[in-house]
Amino acid sequence: MYRVIVPATSANLGPGFDCMGVALNLYNMIDVEESGDGLQIEINGLGKEKIPINENNLIYKSMKLVFDRVGYAPKGLRIIQTNEIPLTRGLGSSAACIVGGIFAANQIIGQKLTLEELEIMAAIADGHPDNTTPVIRGGLVTTVLEDDEVYHVDIEIPDNLKFAAFIPDFTLSTAKARRILPGRISHKDAVFNAGRAALLVASLVSGKFENLAHALEDRLHQPYRKKLIPDMDRIFEASMKNGAKGCYLSGAGPTLISILDNHYEKFLDQMNLYLETLSTGWEIKILELNKKGVEIFVI
Ligand code: HSE
Repeated sequence: MYRVIVPATSANLGPGFDCMGVALNLYNMIDVEESGDGLQIEINGLGKEKIPINENNLIYKSMKLVFDRVGYAPKGLRIIQTNEIPLTRGLGSSAACIVGGIFAANQIIGQKLTLEELEIMAAIADGHPDNTTPVIRGGLVTTVLEDDEVYHVDIEIPDNLKFAAFIPDFTLSTAKARRILPGRISHKDAVFNAGRAALLVASLVSGKFENLAHALEDRLHQPYRKKLIPDMDRIFEASMKNGAKGCYLSGAGPTLISILDNHYEKFLDQMNLYLETLSTGWEIKILELNKKGVEIFVI
């Protein structure tokens, strides 16, 4: 049996829409083996009641992409999915399933596909590479999918950052959060984002965290998506007052991220008190970078 561990991811990081993401230390675990008994799927952990246990299961569908590509027909499959990553919350749960399924299937076929081929398959399956590339590579990644190729750079950043994830009790599908985006934006807003995306990468690499308040600003998606996320602006404002370096909407949302340094205990106490004053329900998880990306074990 193979065990595949896949990290959560937080995409966009403000101005890096569809091209930046980080892997975080929250995981799904996928155990798979070829068995002679049709398709058997067991779900443990988060989303147990919602996730399909038939051919519509995302891990199974992702495995099938690999099997179809190489013309392999497994006799049967047993999949045990154990989820720690909240579903439909902007923390890359779909990308984790896609990457987990693709990598698990590649083990079953004897690792016939290269890392690059798997990376391209995963990005195409998810529609953009800003979650799938960091799931695979770990750490902070800039990445672009163009003409069925994935271009990426792994970016080393200092270790002393924490990612405070504000996870709400409501969900938001990526499809809905993409539908709300405008077809056109102004030249002024494009300039705003290009400048901040460049400033963000340079500030993270050099440890100039005092720039993050501005470097994480965005005009391509956050102003539109905040209509779907009650209290987003209020939580950003309270986070900044309580010492966050900067804030952004994680992926398509609705999870919000405040970036902190190692001194986060007071922030956590203050923000937990603040959240009690809101009518929406939020949980805070303090997360760190995952630097390894997807891991595979034989168990
Ligand atoms: N870049 C994507 C978006 C991430 O913001 O729509 C969500 O999958």
